[in-house]
Amino acid sequence: MLACTATVPQGSSIHSQLAEDVRRGLSARPRSLPPKWFYDTRGSELFDQICELPEYYLTRAERAILERDAAAIVQESGAHELLEIGSGFARKTGLLLQQMRSPRYLPFDISTEALEASARSLRAVVPSLIIDPIVGDFEHDVARVPRSTAPRLWAFLGSTVGNLDEQQAPAVLGAFARRMAPGDTFLLGVDLVKDVPTLERAYDDAAGVTALFNKNVLAVINRQLDADFDLDRFEHRARYDVPLARIEMHLEARGAQRVRIRALDLTVDFDDRERILTEISRKFTRETTEHTLRAAGLRVRRWFSGEGFALVLSELAS
Ligand code: AVJ
Repeated sequence: MLACTATVPQGSSIHSQLAEDVRRGLSARPRSLPPKWFYDTRGSELFDQICELPEYYLTRAERAILERDAAAIVQESGAHELLEIGSGFARKTGLLLQQMRSPRYLPFDISTEALEASARSLRAVVPSLIIDPIVGDFEHDVARVPRSTAPRLWAFLGSTVGNLDEQQAPAVLGAFARRMAPGDTFLLGVDLVKDVPTLERAYDDAAGVTALFNKNVLAVINRQLDADFDLDRFEHRARYDVPLARIEMHLEARGAQRVRIRALDLTVDFDDRERILTEISRKFTRETTEHTLRAAGLRVRRWFSGEGFALVLSELAS
């Protein structure tokens, strides 16, 4: 998962990216914020809790596939190194690395904190592991990824691709595909279309953890951009859009209100019940997965699925 550090240094490229995203997203109507800004220390913690919720089946489903099929995936890939996009705390990555002979691991994440924590925990599981971390935002910093030498397995797990819309997903995957060498493989984790109540419950849990996670983006903006969002005056909403095959998470204003974002010298007036779109989480079929990969220059080699989730091993199309 993506995560940003607790306090993003002023003047850093990440800080100016946040400023730009917030200005663009909150000046426009309908209002929106990119989901990558959920993941400060608290947001990453909340996401970790989400992964343990009874309603949030995604993490367990993906882990079950890896427990069953990691050996087949690694064997099929022929890889000795693993590059993981948006590696976060890399909680499932050990299952793949354990299947590799003298593996090299290249975690790519926006959070140095997460990179350090994952390196520590993976070394405990795979003592011989060589780790070459890459700090960056996967939507902008693909050029930081060293070109592959050995057959490399590229992994983009956890349904993170679901955060990207029909245009963004092929663009991001395509940028990585253009960095792949012939003989490399790409493993994509996608959540599959299923019944609406199951999907909506996964994003609106009874314990209210997802609501806290959603509102946390406002706390991030308050801290990083000196804003005055009142978190108690926004409500968590999650609904599944059937035609678009995606969960949409919003924050809905409880009452008309004015918010000041001092670092941007920006005032935002919300109407009563006006919404900010904070995340899309797309759900895939085999067809839409293949279509997305094809648009990125990749073709499916093998499909591993179970419990409404799939891991798709693909290769360069030409
Ligand atoms: C980390 C992007 C895969 O979309 O399911 C969890 C984030 N948002 N609950 C997802 C999330 C609300 C998650 N991803």
